[in-house]
Amino acid sequence: MQIESLEIQNYRLFRSAELKDLPRLSVVVGANGSGKSTLFDVFSFLKDALVQNVASAVARRGGFRELVSRGETGPIGITVKFRESGGRLATYQLEIAEEAGRPVVDREILKFRRGRYGQPWHFVDFSRGKGTAITNEAAYGQEGVEAERKEHVLDDPSVLAIKGLGQFKEFRVVAEFRGLIENWHVSDFHIADARPSAEAGYAEHLSTRGDNIAQVAQYLYENERERFDRVLQVMSERVPGVSRVEAKPTEDGRLVLRFQDGSFQDPFIARYVSDGTIKMFAYLVLLYDPKPHPLLAVEEPENQLYPELLHELVEEFRDYARRGGQVFISTHSPDFLNGTKLEEIYWLVKKGGFTSVQRASENELLKNLVAEGDQPGALWKQGLFEGAGAR
Ligand SMILES: Nc1ncnc2c1ncn2[C@@H]1O[C@H](COP(=O)(O)OP(=O)(O)OP(=O)(O)O)[C@@H](O)[C@H]1O
Ligand SMILES: [Mg+2]
Repeated sequence: MQIESLEIQNYRLFRSAELKDLPRLSVVVGANGSGKSTLFDVFSFLKDALVQNVASAVARRGGFRELVSRGETGPIGITVKFRESGGRLATYQLEIAEEAGRPVVDREILKFRRGRYGQPWHFVDFSRGKGTAITNEAAYGQEGVEAERKEHVLDDPSVLAIKGLGQFKEFRVVAEFRGLIENWHVSDFHIADARPSAEAGYAEHLSTRGDNIAQVAQYLYENERERFDRVLQVMSERVPGVSRVEAKPTEDGRLVLRFQDGSFQDPFIARYVSDGTIKMFAYLVLLYDPKPHPLLAVEEPENQLYPELLHELVEEFRDYARRGGQVFISTHSPDFLNGTKLEEIYWLVKKGGFTSVQRASENELLKNLVAEGDQPGALWKQGLFEGAGAR
């Protein structure tokens, strides 16, 4: 299952933008304020809309007037094309308008592309709380079978039909799409929050800011030892000087991480280990999570990490994506970009207050230079990603 494209209308600085042919690993570059975090927030918005409802997703972002592109009245549109596990391309389209001061679902459609037989199937087609949903979804694609539809009125027009219609619980494509969006996760790691504290606690998955790293490490150590050992092994391969990482339970049941430096006899406890060491450890904990996120965004992973290590980190992200996730990364680092392929890079250009999305692999000059052996990060630094300033 993979997202193939994303189209955005009137969502903050994305008045009209599209990301096509999304690979499993996408790296987004662009100047400060060009929309990298906003791009990730589009998925967070969908998640909030799905987990709660559209009204609260809009309210959390300052209200409709604040969210809609400046100077526009709407609707705000998000269209996601995804390939479901059966291999078919599906489109989910959501449009949000404002009516009498409240956000409403102006249109919600889930459809399959026109198949070999007849009309495209709109599995879900709703507007402002009313619409139709298909009743014979399992028959899709069978020769001569027409879609059968039933009309519905949603109890709450702010709830998405793909959530509100009970009948779709069993419908694989809806379940898959919901699973994808509901498990969207943004990692915005902050070393100051994450420096492992000695506090006891319980957590299975790394939080957005990484402040529960010690607890997750303890969970992995106690319940997923194989994973934990794998993290430690990669850690000792990636971080020079770290020859071994130990997790030592204390008498009162807490876990103390100890990083062994090959040059010294006594290990350093996590509190006194370098920022980069902690950060790399946190990313490995995130990436080797036994229940990986099918959709993961990582904000600026480069801070605190040694340039050489960034290449390896790209490789770790790519591996994660290969194992079945889909990853989006924002970066300001040419070194990080040097580890990526041109097809993985999107760059954002803001003009007149609105942002458009460029794809590095569609730029002839960049393609030729990379073919001749230049590295993407170096080309970015030279200003060849027009409109996307490198730091
Ligand atoms: N409704 C809106 N219409 C137009 N532009 C908006 C709207 N809301 C916010 N913006 C713009 O979007 C910008 C936020 O961009 P964002 O945080 O996504 O940038 P970024 O690329 O993540 O930057 P950084 O590199 O600093 O993290 C704001 O600074 C503002 O200029
Ligand atoms: Mg940002």
